[in-house]
Amino acid sequence: MEHTRWYKDLVFYQIWPRSFYDGDGDGMGDLWGVYEKLDYLKSLGMDGIWFSPLYPSPGADCGYDISNYMDIAPEYGGMEAFQKVLQGAHDRGMKVIMDLVVNHTSDEHPWFQKSRRREDPYTDYYIWRPGKKNGKLPNNWDSCFEGKAWQYDEVRGEYYMHIFAVKQPDLNMDNPLVRQEVKKILRFWLDLGVDGFREDVITYISKKERLPNDYLMPASKGIRFYNHGPHIHEYLSEFYRDVLADYDCMTLAEAPLVSPKKALAYIAEKPGGQIDMMIQFQSMCADCLFTDYIHMPFSLRRLKHAWSTWQKKLDGKGWNMLYLENHDHPRIISRYGSERFRTESGKMLAAAYLFQKGTPFIYQGQEIGMTNWRPQSPDMYEDIQTRWQYENTALHLSEGKRLRRMWLASRDSARTPVQWTAGENAGFTTGKPWFYVNPNYREVNVEAEEKDPDSLLNFYKKAIALRKSLEVVRSGSYREYNALSSRRYTYSRISENEKLLVLCSFVDEPIPLKVPRGFDLSKARLVLQNNREPQEKTLQPYETRVYYWGNGVK
Ligand code: GLC
Repeated sequence: MEHTRWYKDLVFYQIWPRSFYDGDGDGMGDLWGVYEKLDYLKSLGMDGIWFSPLYPSPGADCGYDISNYMDIAPEYGGMEAFQKVLQGAHDRGMKVIMDLVVNHTSDEHPWFQKSRRREDPYTDYYIWRPGKKNGKLPNNWDSCFEGKAWQYDEVRGEYYMHIFAVKQPDLNMDNPLVRQEVKKILRFWLDLGVDGFREDVITYISKKERLPNDYLMPASKGIRFYNHGPHIHEYLSEFYRDVLADYDCMTLAEAPLVSPKKALAYIAEKPGGQIDMMIQFQSMCADCLFTDYIHMPFSLRRLKHAWSTWQKKLDGKGWNMLYLENHDHPRIISRYGSERFRTESGKMLAAAYLFQKGTPFIYQGQEIGMTNWRPQSPDMYEDIQTRWQYENTALHLSEGKRLRRMWLASRDSARTPVQWTAGENAGFTTGKPWFYVNPNYREVNVEAEEKDPDSLLNFYKKAIALRKSLEVVRSGSYREYNALSSRRYTYSRISENEKLLVLCSFVDEPIPLKVPRGFDLSKARLVLQNNREPQEKTLQPYETRVYYWGNGVK
């Protein structure tokens, strides 16, 4: 079947279901809640939803540890609620994509239970190895969440590999039976009517033969042997050829440490291309080293370099996925903007990415400017990665400093319930919320922002509608100006008949307005701004302006 690449014209919304909206009063978000909010999403201009995992799961990694791939967890409303949401989304012209998590399963998945007992055909579904002599682990690889990448299993009498948590054993994708299972899962959901997949750490699924030891680096040992591993393209091509090619669907691959050059090997828009878009991490590392946990001062130049590199290198060859937030990173205003200038910087950040070339994704709560949650004590954290980091790293620092590191870096900073109203529990639930609500919900909530014409929420609506109305945003060329500036981000989009110029200040003090050569503002229309009284020569703190030349906006 022809792949029509419909995703190029869409704006997606990511739902992390536990914290979106509780429809049945048990304190946890669910699909009944999503159903109630479909019109809200539509009013925001959303054309698609990416659901973080909804499947049955013991919850060791908030759903990314799956114990049944062909069902929906009862706490989210089961299959019945899912079908209703899927239909409701489709009725409103919205697509639905699911999270496909097949680098690993839960250790409570029946495949693992059978594999540890060496029951055929499951014996080699996972990566099992005996220990080395002297009680040493099979190799020196690290896991991303909990120390070493190996866990001894008493039942089987061997170690299994877990690149993430101990409760997330890695599947052995070299086993054709496992690939068969993945294809069954893909087909199951596509036949049910879903429109595609976000593929969780999919670039990790092929491990280097013989699993060699890595150099003695302080962390992440092994990653070069399993990220973009030896058979990755072969396996993804197989999934494409045997299943995805039969449906007009889309795929979005999570790809840590992917460069544009590497990405192009996956996302070639030619017959047989394996993946439609990649989730790159470079633009999420402008205030950290390699991972959010190693915090550094924010560098606008790093951010711009990442954005512009991806824009340029993929131009005409692949399609960018654009994002500022997801469930794995702290809130963007707290990182790249300013909590003091919450609304202004939130709007500026929106304009900074929404007019780039690609398909934008918005993470729940981003549209109202939710900020990092700051708990008073470490035991309030839920996230397995955060807890492990807290207990095992930076032990020499004071308690206060360690707590600060946590809220700067923790995934939980972005996992608090969506703030719907100024009422009890931020209107998220009528029960007891499963997780803490950020106390700023009295000021920061959907209800208040819907009423305020100058709110961030209404800015998002305007920006998204504008984006959709302009052909130049879909197809125009991208160019950046003042690339060395550490205060401003300026870019243009240009096509034959239209021009767009986006000016963004990333600082909390006034700076001179600089207009690149060739752009005559007197002939332009200011189509979007976050300052009611823009001045001729100055940009105010976190000011943004979008100028337009052409006939596309009435
Ligand atoms: C991805 C997910 C993250 C999860 C991890 C392991 O990075 O986005 O939330 O913890 O994979 O599945």
